[in-house]
Amino acid sequence: KSHYRIASIPADGIGQEVIGAAIEVVNALAKTLQTFTIEFEHLPWGTSYYKGHGRYIPEGALDTLRSFDAGLFGSVGAPDVPDHISLWGLLLAIRGPLQLYANVRPVRTFPGTHSPLKTIDERGVDWMIIRENSEGEYAGQGGRSHLGQAWETATEVAIFTRIGIERIMRFAFETAQSRPAKRLTVVTKSNSMRNGMVLWDEVALEVSKDFPDVQWDKMLVDAMTVRMIAKPYSIDTIVGTNLHMDIISDMAAALAGSIGIAPSSNLDPTRKNPSLFEPVHGSAFDITGKGVANPIAAIWSAAEMLRWLRASEAADKLMASIERVCQSGTLTPDLGGNATTTDVVDAIINDIYQFYRLPD
Ligand code: NAD
Ligand code: IPM
Ligand code: MN
Repeated sequence: KSHYRIASIPADGIGQEVIGAAIEVVNALAKTLQTFTIEFEHLPWGTSYYKGHGRYIPEGALDTLRSFDAGLFGSVGAPDVPDHISLWGLLLAIRGPLQLYANVRPVRTFPGTHSPLKTIDERGVDWMIIRENSEGEYAGQGGRSHLGQAWETATEVAIFTRIGIERIMRFAFETAQSRPAKRLTVVTKSNSMRNGMVLWDEVALEVSKDFPDVQWDKMLVDAMTVRMIAKPYSIDTIVGTNLHMDIISDMAAALAGSIGIAPSSNLDPTRKNPSLFEPVHGSAFDITGKGVANPIAAIWSAAEMLRWLRASEAADKLMASIERVCQSGTLTPDLGGNATTTDVVDAIINDIYQFYRLPD
């Protein structure tokens, strides 16, 4: 029987609410299935830690994380701290330095949830977004000069390396290959961005030769937004840069019904470092403390964490519970229902007991 030690970092806003929910559900799953044991250690990193210590994470935080099997993260960002301080202080201080270079963002409708798009029918959607997560527009390079002058200048330098592109491209082709459709769209902007994006196109062509069974195409990111809305069924797996896929994944989540169900995995595919699992959404100041945050994005992220830790049967069972609960109509307001966070958690835990409890 496997035992997992997980770093829990709920951080800010609804991050607290949805990570609490996910931990409750996973503990109930472990207790019911008895095929694995799991222990969550709370790390108090986030904006209140920042206010007390002048930094978002303590010195040695990356080594602390390395002592765990994985991390479960909520959201960072607070109304009274500039977002670039909070995000570079915590989340972006982990993804890049731990080389969690593959950000995997599945997008699906469930039985009982609906797309707002007319072009998506009762079959729903099932897309897989692969986001480069360690470089590109998020390299953090650049600066400002001539502060306050009319000719003040700011640079934001995107950095693309052959090794960085090649490893995410390979990961994306492998992901596409593992899915029934075996289709990949490589998204760039190589018409206006004539260096890094052109290198992306070249590397895509090279890597594609090792995957003859994957049907792939290229798309400019602006045209991709049109295609997602006009021809959603022409899309399966998508790969693109850090910033492009940040934007595309929020839009995709909304097209699938709500950002409140969208999960993500920040993976180190080499498994040298622990991977970090988190909902795609942020702190959601507008609903913090109201008890209505949809916990499914965080719970689904926890399911992906179990899958990554090779507890894939437990992950499948958890996903089946989430789907049955959605189908039963226990939905939070973002999905058009009137359930609270607690209602959804209770319904999932009840489903787990009902379907998976061992006979006495
Ligand atoms: P957001 O994702 O927090 O919210 C956008 C909208 O989606 C809001 O209307 C919100 O109520 C809704 N929403 C988000 N999650 C929901 C859920 N689980 N259930 C129901 N509705 C949900 O994006 P934002 O408003 O741009 O960002 C708020 C703060 O969070 C900022 O500080 C931002 O920098 C930060 N942020 C952090 C992360 C992260 O840590 N991973 C991600 C995105 C944004
Ligand atoms: C996400 C978030 C982060 C990102 C922000 C908050 C830095 O939007 O995880 O999608 O851009 O990666
Ligand atoms: Mn985002």
